[in-house]
Formats: sequence, structure tokens, C-alpha cells
Amino acid sequence: MSNHDIQDVVSLAKRRGFVFPSSQIYGGWEATYDFGPLGTEILRTLKNLWWENFIHRKPNVVGLDSAIISHPRVWEASGHVDSFADVMVEDKKTQKRYRADHLIEDTLNIPTDGFTPQEFDELIGKNNIKSPDNNELSQAKYFNQLVEVQIGTTSDTKSTAYLRGETCQPIFYNYGLVKDSMRMKLPFGVGQIGKAFRNEIKVGPFFFRTREFEQMEIEMFLHPSEASEQLETFKTESMEWLTSLGISKDKLKFREQEFKERAHYNKIATDIEYSFPFGWKEFQGIHYRGDWDLTRHGEFSGHSFVEKIEETGEEFVPHIVEYSIGLSRLLLVLLSDAYTKEEDRLVLKIASHLAPYKAAVFPLVRNKPEITERAKKIFADLNLHTPTAFDDRGNIGKRYLSQDEIGTPFCVTIDYDTLDDGTVTVRDRDSKEQIRIAETKLVDYILTNTSV
Ligand code: GAP
Repeated sequence: MSNHDIQDVVSLAKRRGFVFPSSQIYGGWEATYDFGPLGTEILRTLKNLWWENFIHRKPNVVGLDSAIISHPRVWEASGHVDSFADVMVEDKKTQKRYRADHLIEDTLNIPTDGFTPQEFDELIGKNNIKSPDNNELSQAKYFNQLVEVQIGTTSDTKSTAYLRGETCQPIFYNYGLVKDSMRMKLPFGVGQIGKAFRNEIKVGPFFFRTREFEQMEIEMFLHPSEASEQLETFKTESMEWLTSLGISKDKLKFREQEFKERAHYNKIATDIEYSFPFGWKEFQGIHYRGDWDLTRHGEFSGHSFVEKIEETGEEFVPHIVEYSIGLSRLLLVLLSDAYTKEEDRLVLKIASHLAPYKAAVFPLVRNKPEITERAKKIFADLNLHTPTAFDDRGNIGKRYLSQDEIGTPFCVTIDYDTLDDGTVTVRDRDSKEQIRIAETKLVDYILTNTSV
């Protein structure tokens, strides 16, 4: 169990520039967050590491960066216009909307995945369930999560389009263009990092569930006989990558989704869950989507996705095995996992290669120009190689505490001895141990101890 709750993470994230409530000067905007300077650094590092690991290192996987708004038919073909819905109930007095499954699960503590509106109505009636404000609830109904936008310059040419509800759909309709332009042969994959939008009824906690979020997805196109091996490969590679980010192994687990929980396109869905301060929750999915996507895009567009095996003459529509992780949700995993309260300090024990700053340089005292000058020079040299902070405010103890909170793995102090013998003190974030090393070896030392 965590020794902190999510509010601890929220307050550190805001106070130290990781995550801000969006539009704060206008009173905020529900469930929307802006990533501050330090959150942005971690997100950039994560994206680069992920791209390197899952795209660049795979000879049969390439990347894509597609438009957010595509032809509206894409979302009809994908099934989202008809089936991408949660069941909602409304407080008859306050008009506040709730996800029926969350309300029932909170009240009766029973799983309700995949229940129909009728099934929810029966449960609500039988158990006399009220809204959290103790008011009558409306009848349950489906609520579509696609975010609609009006595109066009004049009202008569306006047409309804959708912000993408998942980043993978453009990968599907680009199948032929990627395959031909890149001369790909099955099995091959296409990955993408980008924003997705969902009109979620219930949001939070914090930025766990938001209406705008970023996903990192890979779609592997293959023959159906290759699907189970690919699912296993994704499971193994996912866990390897997540643990390489320093996430505690005992707080990660796989969970197979039941038939009723699965999205309309999935034949098999395995979640990866993390033990957040608010319970075990999903933050990654590995899905077997069968031939749903290419068959549907074929039907709706008239384009053929049929492949033929020359040797046997077998014709088939490629099946899809999907890897999908929420980038922002992964950041919440990392912040929750790294947040550590110790007796005398708060430390963000994030893996050193993910830390926003890899080192911080301090002059021991402020009133000695020789020491300050030397510290500034050492800072400038180190900062050329790796993100480095400089701090000359307050006393050394306070500077350590300040860097501990943002996860800086090493603090380097320049003092009187530095002027005499060219050595500096390097203090380790986690052990608090200090060593003395030659200034000339500093860059190497920090790079070696903060790389993957
Ligand atoms: N293409 C498959 C797909 O989108 P999903 O399980 O709906 O599957 C994949 O979403 C991942 O996207 C989730 O595991 C989660 O990390 C992230 N995600 C989904 N909805 C989200 C939301 N409202 N806010 C933040 N992240 C979300």
C-alpha cells in the first residue's frame, strides 16, 4: 500500500511545476490539465524512449503522425458512432451526470461491466439508489463519447466531424499507403503517439481520466495464425519496458477482460493495471481486434484490404493485435510510484533516466565570487551534456530538499576545496551519500549514472 494519497501527488505536481489545472486564472476547466515544465520533460523523455524501443528497434514497425480530425465516415466504419458509449444516469434535480456503472459499483460494490441501460434501471429501482446528492435518478441511457466538432467556414457548408477517439483509426485507413510506400510485408506494425478525445461522463481522479489525453499505440497487421504469438510478445515486451522505467513490479499486474467489458472491436483484451493510491486501475491494453477494423473500413470505403498468400492462394483480411497505452496515465503511474515520504523529506524516487534534471549544481556560499564563478562554469559544462539545474538560494540543506522533491538524482556542490584541488561533492538523492570526485570526471559520472 502507498503511504500517500492522490492529493499528495496533486499538490506536489502543482507546487513543483509538473502538472497544472488548466485555465486556472479563469477558474479552471473541468478535468483539463496543462503539463508544466517538469512534467513536459518527463513526457518528452517517455515518448522518445517508447519510440526508440517499440518503433526504431523493430525492423517491421514504422511510425505515423496523422491528422486529429479525419473524414467522419472513419468513425462510422470504426463502430464508434454507434457503439462507443457509456451508460449514463442524471440527477433529476441537479442535472449532474454520472456513469451508471461507477455509481452502482460505488453503492453496491458489484461489477456491472457491459450492463445495458435496462439492467441498470432494474438495479437502481430494486435497491432504491439515489444520486450522490441524494436525489432521484433519471432512466439510464447510452451516452456517446465521440467529441463532435463543426468544420467549415460558413454555416451552410458546416459539417459534423469528430476529434479522434483513439489514435489507431488513422493507422487502419492508412494501411495500404504505408504498406506500399514503405514496401512492408506482413506481419508488420504501425505506431503512433498523439492526442485522443473522449466525452467522458466521469473524469478523474486528477488526470487519470480526462477528456483530452495522449496515447501511444502500435497496430500489428498479421495473419490470424500469428495473433496469439504477437499477443504474448506484446505482454512480455510491455512488462519489460514498464519495469525498465523503474515502476515497482509488485504494483503491476495483468488482468483479462471479461466478454461483457470488452470494446465492440475486441476478441481478447488484456489490461495492465497499476496499484494507484486510489486502487488497482488499468493504464495499458493489449488487444486482439481480429479483422473488425479492416473489414469495416473495406465495407465503408469500398477499398479492398484483402491479402493473398501466393504459395497457397489463401485470401484473408489482415487481423490486428494492438498495443495501447495512455501517455498521461503512464505519467500518473510514475508520479504515484516515485512519490516517497520519508521522516525528514519528500523524495520523488523516479528512475534517474526519467528525472527532469539529471543533476543540480550549487555554490556552497553566495558571497565568494570565485566559488560562484566556478559553480556557474561547471553548471554550464554539465548542462551542455544533460539537463542540469543551478541553485544558489538558501542553505545547502534546503537546496537538497528542493531537488529531492523533483527527483534530481545528483546534487553537486562547489566549495573551497574545489578551488584548491579541483574536486566537487556529489550527493546521491536516494542514499543521501556524498562522494568527492574530480571536476574533470563529473560529466562522465553523471551521464553514466543517469542513462538507461
Ligand atoms: N485503441 C484502443 C484504445 O483506445 P482504450 O483501452 O480505450 O483502448 C487505451 O484506451 C489507453 O488509453 C488506456 O489504457 C488508457 O491508458 C488511455 N485512456 C483511455 N481513456 C482515457 C481517458 N479518458 N483519460 C486518460 N487516458 C485514457
